[in-house]
Amino acid sequence: MKKILITGGAGYIGSHTAVQLVQSGFEPIIIDDLSNSEEKVLDRLEEILGKRLTFYKGDCSDRALLDQIASEHEIAGVIHFAAFKAVGESTIQPLKYYQNNIGSLLTILEFMKARQIKDLVFSSSCTVYGQPDVLPVTEQTPRQEAESPYGNTKKICEDIMVDLVKSKAGIRVISLRYFNPVGAHPSGKIGELPIGTPANLVPFVTQTAAGIREKLTVFGDDYDTVDGSCVRDYIHVMDLADAHVKALAYLGEQKDDFYDVFNVGTGNGNTVLEVINTFEKVNGVKVNFQIGERRPGDIVKIWANTSKINSVLDWHPSYSLEDSMRDSWNWQKNL
Ligand code: NAD
Ligand code: WQD
Repeated sequence: MKKILITGGAGYIGSHTAVQLVQSGFEPIIIDDLSNSEEKVLDRLEEILGKRLTFYKGDCSDRALLDQIASEHEIAGVIHFAAFKAVGESTIQPLKYYQNNIGSLLTILEFMKARQIKDLVFSSSCTVYGQPDVLPVTEQTPRQEAESPYGNTKKICEDIMVDLVKSKAGIRVISLRYFNPVGAHPSGKIGELPIGTPANLVPFVTQTAAGIREKLTVFGDDYDTVDGSCVRDYIHVMDLADAHVKALAYLGEQKDDFYDVFNVGTGNGNTVLEVINTFEKVNGVKVNFQIGERRPGDIVKIWANTSKINSVLDWHPSYSLEDSMRDSWNWQKNL
């Protein structure tokens, strides 16, 4: 069974990917410093999978720890999720973001090169496209100047991996540009765990429905969209997790020194109001919301062209927005 090192594997997307990896015959080895997650995720994964996953608590920038893991396990590939992701915080503490997001990638790449571990799947983001002129965005859509230090770390990380591959280091990389991950494992045992007040839409919706937040504010209803609210491509985390498994399998068939990038979205855009309406309809609960001011710097509309990942990786999303809203609520109720 191929062992895959998952950095940030106790986090939202990493934990769901761990489930999909096991179910596809891989053995995940998780390293996470629990800076944005909790150790009980490992118990939850055990409940879902019926077995305990190997877990190292620590920083994936710690090269000695990585070497220890490699001496204890034959690592066939790495999925690098570990990063800080709070866009607002990154504008206040940019160095924290550059240090962790870029520093951890550099250590991982050095480690892979030294240990001759070839395959890397990297968590990138649609944030690299900024507000594109033409929609939907393809992988050829030019990247724009980043709107935040967080977004810039994703661009810089992509550039670092391109340069390393060009240097003939023997590494094969796929960078997955996620659109907006939502939903949770259908069991309700794992999901997104926002610490403090959520910055993202769906956790705010579920917390408002649960009475934890008094009111959700829709950031603007006067944009040039079907109902005036912003448009995003909301992708179920189980489908997103599956894309990592497909990416790993595809990497295994490539020659050395390979780099490619794929959008991971549904290919559909939904407005904020559509998300709220769908949530209310599917779950039979009301969300207390008001229309508020536009959020400064918000992207008005973005969604993915997914032709490339559909055809090259044979990846197709199987969960609908309704499924996402049902699973997000199911997870919130279990919290
Ligand atoms: P998350 O915070 O739930 O998971 C990240 C995990 O990494 C956490 O468990 C955290 O404790 C851990 N971590 C952070 N720095 C670490 C380090 N140096 N060493 C070890 N562990 C560390 O976030 P997520 O939503 O699962 O995001 C995973 C990846 O996907 C991130 O790289 C993020 O930037 C990227 N991404 C997320 C979104 C999104 O909206 N959730 C969208 C696009 C891209
Ligand atoms: C979605 C929509 C808001 C909260 C972030 C990151 C980006 C990427 C994806 C990681 C927008 C609206 C939100 C609220 C609202 N992440 N909204 N009221 O803006 O797409 O981007 O996640 O790489 O880098 O910036 O996601 O969830 O914040 O917002 O009306 O209380 O919901 O205006 O239209 P976004 P989001």
